[in-house]
Amino acid sequence: MIDVTGAAQQLRELAADIAREAGDLARRRRAVGVSLAATKSTVADIVTEADREVERLIRDRLNAERPGDGFLGEESGAGESSTGVTWVVDPIDGTVNYAYGMPAYSVSIAAVTGGDDPAHWQALAGAVYAPVFDELFTAARGEGAWLGAIRLAVNEETPAGALLATGFGYDPATHDGDLATVREVMTMARDLRRGGSAAIDLSYVAAGRLDGYFERGLQPWDFAAGALLVQEAGGVVSRFETASARPMLVAGGAGVHDRVSAIVNNK
Ligand code: IPD
Ligand code: CA
Repeated sequence: MIDVTGAAQQLRELAADIAREAGDLARRRRAVGVSLAATKSTVADIVTEADREVERLIRDRLNAERPGDGFLGEESGAGESSTGVTWVVDPIDGTVNYAYGMPAYSVSIAAVTGGDDPAHWQALAGAVYAPVFDELFTAARGEGAWLGAIRLAVNEETPAGALLATGFGYDPATHDGDLATVREVMTMARDLRRGGSAAIDLSYVAAGRLDGYFERGLQPWDFAAGALLVQEAGGVVSRFETASARPMLVAGGAGVHDRVSAIVNNK
């Protein structure tokens, strides 16, 4: 069994070091140009050579430091855990931004326990690094969420309405449904952002740069680190089934979280 309290801080430090190293590699590769490696679920869902190289670096570094841990990466699938800890990794979250030369992309690394099913995970530590902005967001269970050395706290709800963010999946068939949800959520919003990296969106909720975030159809590597950041910044995150069979993730301070959830539930 894992000593959660002792482990979380060490895992956070390791996640932070590797996220920085990985983000620096992604940024250097971007500076010399992007090479498309493949498309995945749809033609809009791309993977670059850099995604693969960055994930290899993260996997090798984790394997060297903690050989028994499991690994679930966006680009290279799952590896078994003999320690109870699994690393959930998105080497470049915001790959489309990356490919287009937009700065909002990040490396997301989380350490979780609880087996294979994200519904049963408990995240112990997480790091999200946005290399172009040189911003490193980290969290350890029970120890708070941080931007560098600054402790983070989610926003309280205000009468001005919530500054929200969302995202859209790569399958065009889902766009109509997502836009219908946006129309309803706008009734409580002061404005809406679509940044292009779920991990950054969640980090920004933790940092009070956004009041809330919702998106249908996220994968575990998109939200594992960011969800812990929000919770450790005093916010609430939930993920629930929807009529569309793509789970909805909602994050924010308690008030905004509850209001968004009430609107998007069962859509
Ligand atoms: C995507 C980003 C995007 C979100 C998509 C994700 P990727 O991840 O997080 O913001 O809207 O749902 O798939 O493909 O860039 O790693
Ligand atoms: Ca992602």
